[in-house]
Order: sequence, then structure tokens, then C-alpha cells
Amino acid sequence: MQAHVNPEKNYLEQAISPAQLRNSSGKVAWQSPSNIAIVKYWGKHGIQLPRNPSISFTLNNAFTRTQIQFSPKDSAGISLDFKFEGKENPSFEQKLSQYLHSTLPFFPFLEALKLVIESENSFPHSSGIASSASSMSAVVMCLLDIENQQLNTSLKPLDLLQKASYFSRLASGSAARSVFPYASVWGKTEAINGSSDYFGIGIADELHPVFKSFRNSILIVSSGTKSVSSSAGHALMEGNPYAAMRYQSATANANELFAVLQKGDIERFIEIAESEALQLHALMMSSSPSYILMKPNSLSIISAVRDFRKQSGIPLCFTLDAGPNVHLLYPEEYQQDVRQFIDSELLTYCQNGLKIDDLVGEGPQKVI
Ligand code: PMV
Repeated sequence: MQAHVNPEKNYLEQAISPAQLRNSSGKVAWQSPSNIAIVKYWGKHGIQLPRNPSISFTLNNAFTRTQIQFSPKDSAGISLDFKFEGKENPSFEQKLSQYLHSTLPFFPFLEALKLVIESENSFPHSSGIASSASSMSAVVMCLLDIENQQLNTSLKPLDLLQKASYFSRLASGSAARSVFPYASVWGKTEAINGSSDYFGIGIADELHPVFKSFRNSILIVSSGTKSVSSSAGHALMEGNPYAAMRYQSATANANELFAVLQKGDIERFIEIAESEALQLHALMMSSSPSYILMKPNSLSIISAVRDFRKQSGIPLCFTLDAGPNVHLLYPEEYQQDVRQFIDSELLTYCQNGLKIDDLVGEGPQKVI
């Protein structure tokens, strides 16, 4: 598949109609992780197409586990019974149902199935950690698994991941990157072979070993709902006076980070990661209307991390998502020192002392 070509037509051709169903009942389950972007995706156009390339690490401990049980039905449309952590969740059910409707041209066989979907997160729901990347990629892995069971020939693993990334992207942009082991690039840039706006690509084979075991501790500064959602934030980029410059700078950062990840250049990694995090929040502050998602404690953590790095020489750095929580990134060999520093100096800035220790991981796993 050529990277600049939208694979939509292929996927439409692969679609299985209700009449072609081989098994109309069964059960599949997958767990799929969250990811943390180092070069950020911020700004989109068309149907979930990014304004710039982004690069992320796939996480390990923060995942969603989703099970789909399917059985035959006669009526048209989507039939969905959804539970999140054992309970009904109307807002997520509505989002999921809308998404499934939108994918019917690609998965028409879904009309012949009654779906019972159960989902749970490995991380506490009170943490304020966005779960759309893990949850939507887990659903997509299940859908493709059901589809593969209906086909006589199954997709090759790489084609499967590309397709999973494509459909995860349609559900939630950054979810496109969650399906690959260790790290992923999403968004076309000439400097990265095979990169595409339509799906992410896996770059595990390109990574220097130091990054394959990188650690990520998430410091929960606030678990409250954000005042401006990610979708609203993406939309505000269309009027942001710095948008064009941002897309250029993000592309340059993605190109350079890709080389840095290959070389294992931690010093440059830190500079790019922190600059990207602060650029993301600078874009929020320069949107119209402007808004601030960092909290005073986010800044206290950032400042303490920089002091610690200077004094200890330990290559600890931070990044931020679209929210106040701070992700700390560091090589495995410094885990003990960094965790001691977090416990003694940083937990005081966290809501109820909450942090989640994670690391770079292998991507989605089949459970059933
Ligand atoms: O996938 P979305 O639409 O929730 O956007 C995610 C944007 C950031 O998390 C801020 C950056 C990124 O690349 O993941």
C-alpha cells in the first residue's frame, strides 16, 4: 500500500455482507493500550486527518480491555448493549453506537449481529486520564478479529495493524497510534518512509534499545473534566494565528525526533519532548478564545523536574497531554532514583497523591 493513497477503497472492497457470514455467534476480546505523544497532533481537517505528523510511545499498563459477544439478529441497523466496568454508560454507548453506524459501509455484516460489548480500563477512572485511544483501538481490534473470523483468509499481521490504525483514527485521531508496538508515527512527512495521514505506522524496528524500555510516570494533578475538550481544541487551531508556524515546527520536530529515536540521543530527545509539550499549551493560550489547562501544580512539577535534572544529571523530562497532568519520561536504568524523587518531592503536587507508573509496551493483545 502506498502511503499517500487512502486505503478506503480497498477496505470497502474487503467488506463482508450479512449474507456472507460464516459464524453469526461468538466472542472476542482484546486489550489495547493508551499512548503518549512526544511530537503532538494538534489541529485536524477533513475526516480526522492531522495537520502535522506526530510520534508517540505506546504504553503498557494503561489499557482498555474490551469484549464483544455477538449473536444473530434480523432487524436492520446496529444493535448494541454496552457496559463500562459492569455499569451502563449512556454517553460512551452513544459515541460507540455513532461510530459503529459510521463504519457500516466497511463492516456491513454488523447489521446481522446483536453486539454485547463490555469494556474496562486498567487505570482508575478517577484519574482524569483520557481513554479514547485505548478504548477505541480495543473496539477496533475486536471488530477486525470478528471480520477475520468470517473470512477464509486472514489478514497478514502488518495489514491488520494498518487497517486497525485506519479505523481507530476514524474513532479518535490519536488512537491511530495505539495499535503498534513500542512507538508509532502518524501523519505524512517526506522524511519518514511510509508515513501517512490515513493511518499510523509502527517504528519499533527503528528504535534505539534505550527507548524500547522507556519509563513513563503519570502525575495526576487534577482528575476533573477539562474546561475545553480535545475536539474543541483541535477546532480552535483553525483560527490560531500561529497555526502555520506550528505545523512547520511540528514537522521539523517529527523528522528530527525520528532520527533521535534511532540514534538514542537522549539529550535532544528531552529538548524536543519538553518543547513540544510547552508548544501544545502555548497554542491553547494563543487560541481565540484563549484557555489554560495547566494548573499551578503542573508548573511546580515542571520546575522541580528541571532542577532535579540539572542537579542530578539524570535524564528525566516531562511531557503534557491536553490537560494538567504531567507525564514524566526516563530511561529504565534510572527508575529507582526517579521514583524516589517522585515519591519524596512530587506527590505533594498530585491530587490525593495519585500517580500511575507505566512503560513503553508491545501494543494490543488478544485476550479471547
Ligand atoms: O485524539 P484526540 O483528538 O483526543 O487528540 C489528542 C491530542 C493530544 O493528546 C493533545 C496530542 C496527541 O498527539 O496525542
